[in-house]
Amino acid sequence: MESVISDSVLLAFEILLLSCFYLQFGTALDTVTPSESIKDPEFLISQGGVFRLGFFSFANSTNRYVGILYNQIPVQTVVWVANRNKPPKDSSGILNISDDGNLVVLNGKAEILWSSNITNLVPNATTAHLLDSGNLVLSNGEDGASSLWKSFKDASNAFIETMKIGTDVQRGLKVELKSWKSIDDPSDGSFSFGFEPFNIPELVIRNNNKLYFRSGPWNGNIFIATIMKTVYIDGFHVVADNQRQVYYITHEYSRLKYYELDSQGKLVERTWDAGKGDWINMYFTSQTESCVYGQCGAFGMCDLTKQPICSCLKGFKPRNIEEWSRGNWSSGCFRTTPLQCQRDKNNGSEAGQGDVDGFLKLNMMKVPAFPDLSSINNGECKDQCLKNCSCVAYAYDAGIGCMFWSGDLIDMQKFSTRGVDLYIRLPSSELVIVITAAIVGIVTITIIILFLWCWMAKRRGRKQKHKQIELQLNKGNAMTKFSSNVGENSIGAKLQQLRLFNFEELATATCNFDHANKLGQGGFGPVYRGTLGDEKEIAVKRLSKASVQGLEEFMNEVEVISKLQHRNLVKLLGCCVEAEEKMLVYEYMPNKSLDAFVFDPIKQKVLDWRKRFNIIKGIS
Ligand SMILES: *[C@@H]1O[C@H](CO)[C@@H](O)[C@H](O)[C@H]1NC(C)=O
Ligand SMILES: *[C@@H]1O[C@H](CO)[C@@H](O)[C@H](O)[C@H]1NC(C)=O
Ligand SMILES: *[C@@H]1O[C@H](CO)[C@@H](O)[C@H](O)[C@H]1NC(C)=O
Ligand SMILES: *[C@@H]1O[C@H](CO)[C@@H](O)[C@H](O)[C@H]1NC(C)=O
Ligand SMILES: *[C@@H]1O[C@H](CO)[C@@H](O)[C@H](O)[C@H]1NC(C)=O
Repeated sequence: MESVISDSVLLAFEILLLSCFYLQFGTALDTVTPSESIKDPEFLISQGGVFRLGFFSFANSTNRYVGILYNQIPVQTVVWVANRNKPPKDSSGILNISDDGNLVVLNGKAEILWSSNITNLVPNATTAHLLDSGNLVLSNGEDGASSLWKSFKDASNAFIETMKIGTDVQRGLKVELKSWKSIDDPSDGSFSFGFEPFNIPELVIRNNNKLYFRSGPWNGNIFIATIMKTVYIDGFHVVADNQRQVYYITHEYSRLKYYELDSQGKLVERTWDAGKGDWINMYFTSQTESCVYGQCGAFGMCDLTKQPICSCLKGFKPRNIEEWSRGNWSSGCFRTTPLQCQRDKNNGSEAGQGDVDGFLKLNMMKVPAFPDLSSINNGECKDQCLKNCSCVAYAYDAGIGCMFWSGDLIDMQKFSTRGVDLYIRLPSSELVIVITAAIVGIVTITIIILFLWCWMAKRRGRKQKHKQIELQLNKGNAMTKFSSNVGENSIGAKLQQLRLFNFEELATATCNFDHANKLGQGGFGPVYRGTLGDEKEIAVKRLSKASVQGLEEFMNEVEVISKLQHRNLVKLLGCCVEAEEKMLVYEYMPNKSLDAFVFDPIKQKVLDWRKRFNIIKGIS
């Protein structure tokens, strides 16, 4: 019941609390002390009123959580939760300073649901202070100088301004975002977001501790290969101090904005829109355009614009064809021809006999994971890599220097607008293939273009004629409608009695030339049975595309048949000329062709000699 508290009741509480505190204790409202605890549904408000700390619930749940929320906006926005995994079901919870000096959340039975969990604190001397930054700080005594614990160091799923996400190697500190199980269940989800040193620091998202997303290495300005345009624009600040081994990312911005790691593992930028009265969510662009880490396996390259998205690098083949073709690319690719330096080594000789390895340049790439670092400049990266047979690729970035890779190349992605040049080591035989293929390709394309050009030029002449006839046909059709008399030598006039069908009409009539509707196959092409919109049954002869008959010949045929209208002959109802399609439309003869009777041993009895004579007379 208590969980549903209207705003006005809350406001009343607030005023009540205010007056109580000021009257009775005269203490600030932003502090928990050993003698002043927070009982559900009380809360603290930071001095400037930006954040509040207290008990809250999510919609459709009676679970009570202690958390830090934005205080000045109408939408419940939680940026930190203490007892994520152990919420009391009722409003008996208390947030206080325990006897050992820790900040704790207790249930009605005084069981500890959550603790700041610091050892060796001075009892009765600690206080917890909620700052306007949204940081809850446990410190010794009144001065609050030495912080013993901070909510910023025990992050939930929200990355708010001035928080530092990162790693302090020497002090063994690591602050990362942890996703919630779902949007209204803050218990531990499977994703985490952090800034990890590696050899060159990168932002990473892990799923159940396994790499899921990499930003690409930090070059002092940007995370290369995954633009984070927001580095400058959105007030990000990155510290990567190799000497002190301190690596963190933080942000400060003039707008109300924060980042959240959602339960699907996506980093969302949330900006408050006062006009709409809600948060505007935007996915971190580089991340939504990114392949999952290692999706294409070793030596596999991901390209989201391709189908399938994974392919093996040149000179490599899928390790497991069957899995690969099923879309499970995780086992990756293997080198089909060993590197020259490997062959030389196996052969006992130090240097190759003139045959050395080369490099295949791939541009706009996200570089593979785990580069080795060297600060030598560009010209020498290649030589440096060639000197060491375990070097399988290199790349250069002005802010980083040379990057080298040995072992498997994992998590490469091809971009269309960003990234760096990546050089893959290949034996010269493979490179010769690549170069030859390129030359052959260019020559072939040139020949094809020339050929096409000639063909089109020839065709253009014919097209003109085609156009003329089509125009006349249309004219003829229009003329039938107005039943006007036109001169004998115009095709339009010859076809006066004919109807011009359009392709769609006939396709509909024959259920898209369904095989079930096929009546037979003539020299002209297949014949289909169809039904027009007015229930009239028709037979459609479709000129096979293979037929070399041109439009002119077709029109002559139509002309002849249309002149041969007789009640003993099948009636031509119309024709269709559209693009490459040419069709004749006849009335449908339910009794089929005469030969079906003449040559059928049973049916031929229907035709006595008198009838046959009449038919012969009729035809002639
Ligand atoms: C406190 O820390 C210990 C060991 O680090 C851990 O086992 C325990 O679960 C923690 N307790 C709480 C309430 O977080
Ligand atoms: C802490 O203070 C309370 C009252 O303010 C007192 O009852 C308690 O004994 C003190 N505890 C210690 C360990 O000093
Ligand atoms: C893909 O293949 C790997 C290695 O053979 C296997 O461990 C994994 O379970 C497969 N994944 C799926 C989704 O089939
Ligand atoms: C070893 O080198 C010799 C000549 O130097 C060559 O004929 C032979 O094919 C090489 N063997 C391998 C395995 O590459
Ligand atoms: C060759 O490269 C590997 C991996 O980068 C490295 O461990 C090794 O020390 C290098 N060897 C030489 C002689 O530079």
